[in-house]
Amino acid sequence: MRILSGVQSSGKLHLGNYFGAIKQFIELQDEGEALYFIANLHAMTTVREGEKMRGLTLDAALDFLALGLDPAKATLFRQSDIPEVTELFWYLSAVAPMGMLERAHSYKDKVAKGISPDIGLFTYPVLMAADILLYGSDVVPVGKDQVQHVEMTRDLATKFNLAYVPGYDPKRDENPKTRKIEGILRLPSARVQDQTASVPGVDGLKMSKSYDNTIDLFADDAATKKKVMSIKSDSTPMESPKDPNANSIHALLSLFANEADMAEINRSYREGGKGYGHYKLQLLELFHAHFDPARARRKQLESDLQFVENVLKDGAERARKTAAPIIDQCRRAVGMR
Ligand code: ADP
Ligand code: TRP
Repeated sequence: MRILSGVQSSGKLHLGNYFGAIKQFIELQDEGEALYFIANLHAMTTVREGEKMRGLTLDAALDFLALGLDPAKATLFRQSDIPEVTELFWYLSAVAPMGMLERAHSYKDKVAKGISPDIGLFTYPVLMAADILLYGSDVVPVGKDQVQHVEMTRDLATKFNLAYVPGYDPKRDENPKTRKIEGILRLPSARVQDQTASVPGVDGLKMSKSYDNTIDLFADDAATKKKVMSIKSDSTPMESPKDPNANSIHALLSLFANEADMAEINRSYREGGKGYGHYKLQLLELFHAHFDPARARRKQLESDLQFVENVLKDGAERARKTAAPIIDQCRRAVGMR
């Protein structure tokens, strides 16, 4: 099984990114051949300064490695180090219907928010499809918001196969038993992590860097404490029972606490007697117990950037090897070779 996913290098990682996406990526490196990349080309749709882009790309690599991505098991690389991806992007663009891209939720949401769209934002899903199809990926772990993009990827692969593989039958491709003629591009499936599909931020809304409500993974201790203590609560008196759904403290605790701790937390919520400040401090403690090893590892990596650079270079070489036979078939099929 080939597993592939990408993360845009567009800002600092927070608890939502970790529990919604990265934790799953790292677990999957033991289940198959995993390829993970830093989607710096995609990030160009929002980051418009070269120096900042370079920094954010390196940050993303440090984050991944600190959080447990093991370069011996998974291939980690920069999207931009693979020229074949922009080549396949073009081949796919030639079969991509405008109407399909116009229906993309993320594009429509951004336009609705008043962003004046450029071609890069519009064709974002086609580049994402190229990312996925170039390596013959089977499984694409993503957040809920990206599922439609993976569906579009399947559509684009089907369109390409129909156009360029004589006798290709998309219905039969679904079932390996009845498949007579293989497509050049393999149809991937999205995998969404359900339990933690949406991590709430300090204000109770979905945690997101665009809402300024995040608890970041690698902020310094003082900033982390300030953020945790700022979680919006209500004025339920200390002695009264607390409603676990009244604010995000309980949901955040449940990301970290084991079953026994959680049973104790639930009991104390029902019983009352403890103020929200108590639970926030407990959350802070759990956060540190969980992330301090990764935080220390990140510091160490920061002093060995050559190692990180080597991981990315080696990753790109491996990824290009995986891509080579697929892009070669594409080139021949479309008549470029
Ligand atoms: P942000 O909303 O902060 O800009 P991104 O859109 O860059 O985050 O998301 C990167 C990954 O993290 C995606 O797979 C996304 O689904 C996941 N993710 C982001 N925020 C959350 C959240 N609050 N809960 C669960 N997953 C999240
Ligand atoms: N669009 C994804 C996001 O914002 C990042 C991404 C780019 C990606 N290419 C990909 C994810 C390919 C999975 C597969 O989260």
